[in-house]
Amino acid sequence: MQISFSASADVTAKSGAKDGGSWVVGAAEGAVLLPAAARADKASGGALTRALKFSRFTGKAGQMLEVLAPSGLKVSRLLLVGLGKAEAVDEKGLETLGAQIAGRLYGAGETTASIEIDVPKGAKVKKAELAAHLAFGAKLKSYAFDKYRTRNLDEYEKKLKTVRIVTPDVAAAKKAHDGLAAVAAGIFFARDLVNEPPNVLYPVEFARRAKAQLSKLGVKVEILGEAEMKKQGFGALLGVGQGSQRESQLVVMQWNGGKKSAKPFALVGKGVCFDSGGLSIKVGAGMQGMKGDMAGAACVVGTLQALAMRKARVNVVGVVGLVENMPDGGAFRPDDVLTSLSGQTIEVLNTDAEGRLVLADALTYTQRRFQPKGLIDLATLTGAIVATLGFEHAGIFSNDDELVRRVQAAGRFTGERVWQLPLDPFYDKMIRSKIADMKNIGGANSGAITAAQFLQRFVEKGTVWAHLDIAGVAWQDGEQKPTIPSWGTGWGVRLLNRLMKEHYET
Ligand code: BES
Ligand code: MN
Ligand code: ZN
Repeated sequence: MQISFSASADVTAKSGAKDGGSWVVGAAEGAVLLPAAARADKASGGALTRALKFSRFTGKAGQMLEVLAPSGLKVSRLLLVGLGKAEAVDEKGLETLGAQIAGRLYGAGETTASIEIDVPKGAKVKKAELAAHLAFGAKLKSYAFDKYRTRNLDEYEKKLKTVRIVTPDVAAAKKAHDGLAAVAAGIFFARDLVNEPPNVLYPVEFARRAKAQLSKLGVKVEILGEAEMKKQGFGALLGVGQGSQRESQLVVMQWNGGKKSAKPFALVGKGVCFDSGGLSIKVGAGMQGMKGDMAGAACVVGTLQALAMRKARVNVVGVVGLVENMPDGGAFRPDDVLTSLSGQTIEVLNTDAEGRLVLADALTYTQRRFQPKGLIDLATLTGAIVATLGFEHAGIFSNDDELVRRVQAAGRFTGERVWQLPLDPFYDKMIRSKIADMKNIGGANSGAITAAQFLQRFVEKGTVWAHLDIAGVAWQDGEQKPTIPSWGTGWGVRLLNRLMKEHYET
């Protein structure tokens, strides 16, 4: 989808949507036509006012009213969209609206559109922000993962290719949109990584793609293979990968857009490219979708892409542990004891609790090498978080209340919401082992918490840390939200980008 910004609102003459595209205009609550809509109405001899009489359109957010082939206008259709209450118009809502508009025009088979939505009186957003976030939402809706389809391509094609946002302050809108376009690119990359099947995207291939994509943007990318990790003592991560034909990898990505001396913020991702459960093998239905068990790693890579593309003035390091959890004759076993990079020993009682093992070593490596000023890990870690929070919130666990507040605020702004769950010595006791420093499972209950307690044992003194369990939000079936496609959601890129922008950029 090509997006442009233009000050010209003249679609009544031969410019504008001259090739028969759609003209999208707005109405406030109460079906009050905003200026562009009023002009459209006038130029079409009152087509909108007439149509309103026969419809239930009240201007509520997301409502639409369509007039096809209006006379007096060189457009294929007028699309009137509701903005709802002016005070409630915000960035997130505008993104939803942009996506809804694009969705509607996809359904209609439209190829081009001019979107001219004015800021309603009493709204808090600026004109340029409104334009940029509408565009961002439309762009998010344009995502598709069709590379493996070979038949009926026409049926899947999204024909809306050209979207023009009409706004009085073109320069400011473009500027606001540049940053969001970078975020969209990061989200799309993350979604692609999650959607890609595991026979194609295994650890080495994930690492290769991350490096190819990020190094051209100025991110420094290092890849550690098994030999190097063995030498350094990544016993927990390598234990998980040892039953796979595919080599495990650790990818270290550094974006240094900030001050040279400033300590980086660190993002660590779980990258289990396929989770069969290992010898503690999953049942068939539970194994489906486990190609997405690298969504934390995908989010980290996508966020670095967004930051690098918009040249964010911040130092961020991303570290992802990439493995495949498989059950061959060389696989690690329940009852094995692994020695982690931190030196702590782990009694493995269930090979399906593998993500925490991968993260343990990635966390230790990241802290020892970079002494980050803050650290967030993201992982599709437990089924328990899905049972607890479902699909609307990620779970957040942290040793720092200020970091939690910041992440919560970024989540509310972007719509990627988080909900805090407790850490407590009580739960920590649940992972005591009879023979080693800890075991890798708790008990039957509070599984998302005992997983977080496990990770906390690898958080070093003084590290400000938060763990996001994204098992419920990383992928979804069906399009439940306009800006989010079916399957890989790219969850977290928007949130982390916002967090960096608000609190860590200079
Ligand atoms: N990757 C899974 C968690 C998961 C489950 C993600 C469902 C998305 C949807 C993780 O590795 C896992 O298997 N966790 C186990 C832990 C248990 C064995 C302690 C789980 O949640 O059942
Ligand atoms: Mn597992
Ligand atoms: Zn897993």
